Amino acid sequence: MAEISTEQQLEKMREDWDQRARENARFYVNTASENWTEEEFFKSGELTVSEEILTDLGNICQGKPPGTMRVLEVGCGAGRVTRALAALFGEVHAVDVSGEMVRLAREALRDYPKAFVYQNNGRDLSVVPDLLFDFAFSSIVFQHIPSREIIENYVREVHRLLRPGALFKFQVQGDSTIETKPDDTWLGASFDERQTSDMAFRCGFEPRYRHGAGEQYFWLWFFKR
Ligand SMILES: C[S@@+](CC[C@H](N)C(=O)[O-])C[C@H]1O[C@@H](n2cnc3c(N)ncnc32)[C@H](O)[C@@H]1O
Repeated sequence: MAEISTEQQLEKMREDWDQRARENARFYVNTASENWTEEEFFKSGELTVSEEILTDLGNICQGKPPGTMRVLEVGCGAGRVTRALAALFGEVHAVDVSGEMVRLAREALRDYPKAFVYQNNGRDLSVVPDLLFDFAFSSIVFQHIPSREIIENYVREVHRLLRPGALFKFQVQGDSTIETKPDDTWLGASFDERQTSDMAFRCGFEPRYRHGAGEQYFWLWFFKR
């Protein structure tokens, strides 16, 4: 296959995710059902928050009341998890490469005046106001990004916006049998344990914990040094 430039790759991500959002946003966001009701879809986001955040408040909040915290989400999709984050934390800022997803997320968050959603360029967080964040989260997003360089750029960008000591908890693809192609925006680049620690150190994080190496849901706890 012919090489494609990063610019072409980013354009493809935006187009493909816009298309998926128009076709069946809820399904492409969470493939557990092709026919989510609105209620069940957002319940599934609450479940993600229960499983990944409420069980881990020590690492995430570090003694701060959640209602006083400003948090960042990378790849918010239709606002499924963002809405549950907004119900828990004081302020939420979220980005997504797809304008269609951003439109849906804004709709989902219309009753949350302290939730802000931005369409970004697919590789950095320059659209996010220059504020300090207390926690950052990303789930089932990097598993769709076919470039390790872009994923690492996000890790570096999150580091720029977090306050020292704060956590970036995120999921990557850990199954190395997955074959990625530069123009395939569904199957993302995989990481092994060594690659995740090297990435953490290069970006100024301490890779304190990890869970699910070798699996699709490979979770990482990176603390800003
Ligand atoms: C499977 S959905 C998950 C959405 C959300 N995290 C959730 O769990 O409900 C993946 C999302 O990642 C977004 N995405 C894909 N590549 C991206 C990139 N390079 N930068 C930002 N967002 C991206 C897509 O537009 C899509 O909304």
